[in-house]
Amino acid sequence: MDFLSYQNGQLFLQNNAIADLAKLYGTPLYVYDEEYIKERWLEYDNALADRKHLICYAIKANSNLAILNCLVKLGSGFDIVSQGELERVLRAGADPKKVVFSGVAKSVSEIERALTVGIKCFNVESEAELERIQSIAQRLNIIAPVSLRINPDVDAKTHPYISTGLRDNKFGVSYSLAIGIYQKAQKMSHIAIEGIDCHIGSQLTEILPFLDSAERIRVLFDQLISIGITIKHIDFGGGLGVCYDDEIPPQIVDLINALKNKFADYPEVELLFEPGRSIVANAGLLVTKVEYTKHQDNNHFAIVDAGMNDLIRPSLYKAWMKIMPVQQPNPDDQMYDYQIVGPICESSDVLGRNRQLAVEQHDLLVICSAGAYGFSMASNYNSHPKPAEIMVNQFGHRLIRQRESYDMLWQGEII
Ligand code: LLP
Repeated sequence: MDFLSYQNGQLFLQNNAIADLAKLYGTPLYVYDEEYIKERWLEYDNALADRKHLICYAIKANSNLAILNCLVKLGSGFDIVSQGELERVLRAGADPKKVVFSGVAKSVSEIERALTVGIKCFNVESEAELERIQSIAQRLNIIAPVSLRINPDVDAKTHPYISTGLRDNKFGVSYSLAIGIYQKAQKMSHIAIEGIDCHIGSQLTEILPFLDSAERIRVLFDQLISIGITIKHIDFGGGLGVCYDDEIPPQIVDLINALKNKFADYPEVELLFEPGRSIVANAGLLVTKVEYTKHQDNNHFAIVDAGMNDLIRPSLYKAWMKIMPVQQPNPDDQMYDYQIVGPICESSDVLGRNRQLAVEQHDLLVICSAGAYGFSMASNYNSHPKPAEIMVNQFGHRLIRQRESYDMLWQGEII
C-alpha cells in the first residue's frame, strides 16, 4: 500500500493518522485511498490510450457508491453480475451504455431491466441464456447486444475457488461449442453479436494464463470472421493479481501490452477489461481494535472487534493478509506469536496466524489490502452491524457509508 507509512511511530495513510480516524469513526472501520484507486484505473486507461477501449470496473470487488462515482467521473465502464449491481452503478451516475452484464444466472426481470436501460452488452454464459435473452428482447422489441463468455479451458494457477476458466467450471460456454452458438445467435431476430468475452479467474500472478486464453480467443475470432460473423469487441475479463505478501504480479501496462499485441492487426476492434481487485485491493484497509489478549496453552490470541463477518477472505480462502500495528512497537516490548481472531462463534474466524506482534488490549491493528472483496463480502452473521467506510485523499477524509445501527439489523423483518 503505497501511501501507508509510520511517522513518529504512528501509522498514517496519506496525511491521516489511523488512530485519529479510528477515534473519529470507531472500529471496525474500512478506509480507502481515493488517489490510489484513480491511479490504478488510469494505469489501465493510459495503457490503452492508443486504441478503442473501455475499462469496465468489476463492481463486485467493492461496490460502494462513492468509489463507483469516483470511477464514473474518470469515464469508467462497469462489469455487473446482478440487477442489484446494475441499480448501484446507475445510482452512482454510470452511463448504461458503458455497462457489461456477466453472470451465469441472469433472471427474466434482470434481463428486462438491463435491456430497458440499454446496457452495452450481455456476457452470455449459456445457450439457454441466449434463448431467454432473445425471447425477452423480441417481446420488448429491443435488439440485445451480446458477447459469448468463452471458457478457454486454461489453468489460471490460482486458488480453486477463484479459478473460472477450466472446462469443469460453471462459467461460460465451452470452447468447442462456441462457433455453433454464435451461428445460432446470428440467426436470432433480436440478438446483435458484439463480441467475445472471457474471464479465467482472479488473483492471477502470472501473465501466461492470460496469454494462453487470449491465443484461444484469437483463434476463435479468426474462425468467426471466416464464416462472416463480425466481432466488434474483445473482453479479456479481469483477474490481475495484487501483492498481499510477496507475490510479484505483472504490471498493468505489461499485461495490457501483451494482450493488445494479439489484436494489433485489428485496430478497429475495441478492447474491454473488467478489473476489480487490481484497482481497489491495495487502496483499502480494515482498522480493528484489540478487545482482549489471551495467553493459554502456548496459544496467544489477539481477539479483535473485526471478524470473518467483516472480512471473510482469510477464513474462506485461507488468504494471507498483512496485519500491522497502528502504534509501532518499542524494541523492548514483549512480542508473541499471535493468532488474530474475531468475535464470531466459528473456529475459522481467524484473520491471521503466526503474527509476531506486541499488542495489548485497546491497541489498534490494520489489515492491509482489504479494499477488494472485503466490505462487498461482509455479512451480519452473529448480528454484527456492518462497519463504516471512509475515503481519504490528500485533502482529508469523509464518511462514505455510515456504520450500521442495530435498528438496521432487523429492517424488513416482521414479528
Ligand atoms: N469479471 C468477471 C466475470 C468476474 O467474475 C470477476 C471476478 C472479475 C471480472 C473481476 O476479477 P478481479 O479483477 O477482481 O480478479 N472473492 C474472491 C474473488 C472472486 C472473484 C470473482 N470474479 C477473493 O476475495 O479473492
